[in-house]
Amino acid sequence: MATTGLPLPPLPTLPMSTPVVIESHGFQISKDQLTVLVPVAVAAALGGFLVSRYFSGRGCGSSKKSQVNPCVCKDSAKVVHSFDMEDIGSKAVYCRCWRSKKFPYCDGSHTKHNEVTGDNVGPLIIKKKDA
Ligand code: FES
Repeated sequence: MATTGLPLPPLPTLPMSTPVVIESHGFQISKDQLTVLVPVAVAAALGGFLVSRYFSGRGCGSSKKSQVNPCVCKDSAKVVHSFDMEDIGSKAVYCRCWRSKKFPYCDGSHTKHNEVTGDNVGPLIIKKKDA
């Protein structure tokens, strides 16, 4: 089937105030265009990098380095507590936020910590089953 349409007008060429710097496969960029495109590309790359860093630093498994323990037995290489089951009694409440003044026991300091930081930590409660 033959087409009888009108011939297409020639495509307009964009005015270039400076000589072509890059030309490849019909693609041309002038120095003026490069001075606009390069900062835009750099800003977009930097923005993407910063957004990815922000989101990768959140959540479990984050590579952010920080200390959990702000003040308990800081002169020790490792803080370890051990209890015999027979000595626990009917119920024991242990701190997991590391803010308790009675560490390793919970004194309720996790409530203030959660309010200030938006965290959601709470104690470990061990109790004997009701008979
Ligand atoms: S004070 Fe730390 S969990 Fe309650």
